[in-house]
Amino acid sequence: MRGENLEKEIERVAFEIKNSPYTTVLTGAGISAESGIPTFRGKNGLWNKYRPEELATPHAFERDPRLVWEWYAWRMRLVFSKEPNPGHKALAEMEKIGLVKSIITQNVDDLHERAGSRNVIHLHGELKEVICSNRSCDYKVEAETILNEIEKKLPTCPECGSLLRPGVVWFGESLPTEELSKAFQEAEKSEVILVIGTSAVVQPAASIPLITKRKGGKIIEINPDTTSLTGVADVSVRGGAGEVLTAVLEVLKKD
Ligand code: OAD
Repeated sequence: MRGENLEKEIERVAFEIKNSPYTTVLTGAGISAESGIPTFRGKNGLWNKYRPEELATPHAFERDPRLVWEWYAWRMRLVFSKEPNPGHKALAEMEKIGLVKSIITQNVDDLHERAGSRNVIHLHGELKEVICSNRSCDYKVEAETILNEIEKKLPTCPECGSLLRPGVVWFGESLPTEELSKAFQEAEKSEVILVIGTSAVVQPAASIPLITKRKGGKIIEINPDTTSLTGVADVSVRGGAGEVLTAVLEVLKKD
């Protein structure tokens, strides 16, 4: 049984989505937590166990590419073995019925796409992609094809001979220009932005909902905890993404 407050918040979220001509979603690690993929912050977060400066920076890769590769190979295998959860599926369904236009995600997994979402913007790259570490070489390959070799030999670029690296954005690196500008455009167009499963502390992603807000739109937050956007959110639903989004979808379909 859900509490009366949670029921009311779910109704309110459905109402806002229904009445918004353009709704976008910003997601973070929390939406994939129910698929068994760890988040970054908090008690069981990755950054509680590992040091980002040793594993997720260009400098770390230069210093110890094997260590960095081992950690990413572990994350790749973990993510590839997981399945989309009811939260991903509810968002995909909302897009299918025209009520959600796009998903801007900080996540490097592909669970939104595997749930059926089509218009997904990856701000921090993707684990399924491996790229050349030489910035002037644009060689790319699917991670699955090189993953078995990692333990024997670090993968190198068949075009320029440089080491290959995970296709994700590391600390200190710029976000992909095209994705970032698409995300800004989506936020500008939106009258509602759903902010789901992100602590909203990493920039520039954390500021994207403020673009919607500045244009007169609304921020709806779905998260079991408060975040750095809670103070500016128009609605904050305190619950897990799977339960809340499934319930919102039910209301949307009923109306
Ligand atoms: P965080 O780990 O910072 O935050 C995860 C959020 O998910 C927290 O606010 C949790 O309360 C929330 N959460 C946990 N379980 C949830 C559930 N079942 N439903 C909904 N929310 C839930 O992850 P991000 O905000 O995604 O960047 O982190 C942003 C970036 O920091 C990542 O993309 C990554 C990291 O360093 C890079 O690696 C560049």
